[in-house]
Amino acid sequence: MRVAFVGKGGAGKSSLAGTFARVLGAAGQRVLALDSDPMPGLAFSLGVAQRDAGLPDEAVEEYDDGGRRRYRLRDGLTGTGAIEKYAVRGPDGVYLLQLGKARGPRWDNTRQHFGFQQVIDDLPGDGWHVVGDLPGGTRQPFLTWGRYAQTFLVVVEPTPASMLTGRRLAKLATTASAPAVMVVANKVSDPADAMRVAERTGLPLLGAVPHDPALYRADQCGRAVLDHDPDGPTAGAVRSLVAALRRRTEPA
Ligand SMILES: Nc1ncnc2c1ncn2[C@@H]1O[C@H](COP(=O)(O)OP(=O)(O)OP(=O)(O)O)[C@@H](O)[C@H]1O
Ligand SMILES: [Mg+2]
Repeated sequence: MRVAFVGKGGAGKSSLAGTFARVLGAAGQRVLALDSDPMPGLAFSLGVAQRDAGLPDEAVEEYDDGGRRRYRLRDGLTGTGAIEKYAVRGPDGVYLLQLGKARGPRWDNTRQHFGFQQVIDDLPGDGWHVVGDLPGGTRQPFLTWGRYAQTFLVVVEPTPASMLTGRRLAKLATTASAPAVMVVANKVSDPADAMRVAERTGLPLLGAVPHDPALYRADQCGRAVLDHDPDGPTAGAVRSLVAALRRRTEPA
């Protein structure tokens, strides 16, 4: 499967994407977790220690395009090759490739940006799952960065602002190439919350994740929830999400 998590800022995209990737990895699947958020996130929820590393400068070369400065992956380096060489292996065997993180006032990620864009157009094929974590907002997911996804999972909290955002993202998603858009209700405190999220967003519900104080505590100490509370409610709910999406996307 190729899935990308989208939604309002703070809805829980990174927490759920990292846990989702690890659940797949723990089931013996080959998983690439892709973090295109220039702010920190996915490495924490995966439990990967190397938190800022993106594509190194050596992976990307500058070239002249009729007087304009452009960047591309180094001669001979494919997207799949870049993943083999530069993705970091984390717990449960998950590979993580991230866009370099924003650092310092003169931070410029132009090189990495173009390298990363090429990588998402040349992802490894058969036998790999791709789980992407996109930044909050509207531009990144649907205009360019989420183009590898076959399924968008819109993460929505049972609050008016989050549900309205989910509804608007669902409309934007109709302009994207992904065949499927579904909603995940997050931080729910009773089953009616999940139904409300589905109704208000107008999206099919893949599943729900309860409001879980253990997830918040894991975040506070910078740990993956799967390491902090491996049999807790978040782990259980995300296992159900993975199983539900596998049933929908994989031939019986
Ligand atoms: N099910 C949950 N129960 C309790 N807290 C949660 C749950 N899911 C996420 N959180 C908390 O919500 C906060 C935001 O989560 P997270 O960073 O995953 O969101 P995000 O959508 O990736 O945010 P951003 O838009 O900044 O990238 C964190 O403090 C996290 O611990
Ligand atoms: Mg995030």
